[in-house]
Amino acid sequence: MLNPTQPEHFQIEYLEPLETRKDSKKSWGQDIKEGLSQRPKTIPAKYFYDDQGSQLFEQICELPEYYPTRTEASILRQYAEEIVQITGICELVELGSGSSTKTRLLLDAYHQENEVFKYMPIDVSAGILKESAIQLKQDYNSLQIKGLVGTYEQALTQLKPSAWPARMLFFLGSSIGNFSESDYDNFLNKIAEVLENGDYFLLGIDLQKPKSTLEAAYNDSQGVTAAFNLNMLTHLNNKFEGNFDIDNFKHEAIYNQDKKQIEMYLLSEKEQEISLKKLELKVKLQKGEKILTEISRKFDVEKTKDKLESKQLKNLKVFTDENQWFALILCQVVK
Ligand code: AVJ
Repeated sequence: MLNPTQPEHFQIEYLEPLETRKDSKKSWGQDIKEGLSQRPKTIPAKYFYDDQGSQLFEQICELPEYYPTRTEASILRQYAEEIVQITGICELVELGSGSSTKTRLLLDAYHQENEVFKYMPIDVSAGILKESAIQLKQDYNSLQIKGLVGTYEQALTQLKPSAWPARMLFFLGSSIGNFSESDYDNFLNKIAEVLENGDYFLLGIDLQKPKSTLEAAYNDSQGVTAAFNLNMLTHLNNKFEGNFDIDNFKHEAIYNQDKKQIEMYLLSEKEQEISLKKLELKVKLQKGEKILTEISRKFDVEKTKDKLESKQLKNLKVFTDENQWFALILCQVVK
């Protein structure tokens, strides 16, 4: 299928889906079953990202209220060259690459330093991954691209050792904010385990700021975030033969000041019973009951640095914008 003698070609590899593994047949959709039996009922945020959801997310990134993307982009624009100076040329691996738009700022800087280099975008959405690989191949001719389709867990367990002298793994957009405290901890353990001594890790984090700014970013006036949230139900309908009627749900996003996190919910506007046939699951919802679909934690730079240091991820430099709304933390693995 793939021809390594054709360097102009890009490769896309589908990571082994967990559901086809022998031992995990019964665990397929288990996270949905578990989530919907919790209080409040919860659906994991990864179910936002079917092809439609990834496209809606791209639209969110363009919204005037949604400051994280453009703020992070401005930091990258300002400091990409400095990042390259620190790391030198390396293999770039991106978790949750989406359309790779912001990534281009980094690619440009690495490209200036060295004609040939390698980029491995990893995303759950095959559609967006392929599309962006085609675009990137056109714009960066000597770039070696190997895309991986899969979840973070799959990617981190199936990533093979690099042939390049060093690797930089980056995780932008504050996607790490979706993790609970324990998932956050496990994720960083995994990062330190997968990377080798001397490799780099670049993490984008959204910082704490006034409630009104945060809530506006997750309740945009055009309703794109609402459509993104509701699309999760359409995704579940398609994937598990469900019968959610999105007209019976309402988007809600609030900033929980105590927990320093945005919480996104889908509120059931009436009493209803939902069935997900492929999971043989029926779920009752009360009128006004809320399903938690996402937490988006807002970070403190010092605490995050300490946390990373406790995971063998030594801080090299923190880059931020003039308002200190967003930060990129560059660290190096020291085992
Ligand atoms: C991609 C997870 C970083 O939490 O801000 C955007 C997702 N949700 N609007 C975020 C999201 C609602 C986004 N992350």
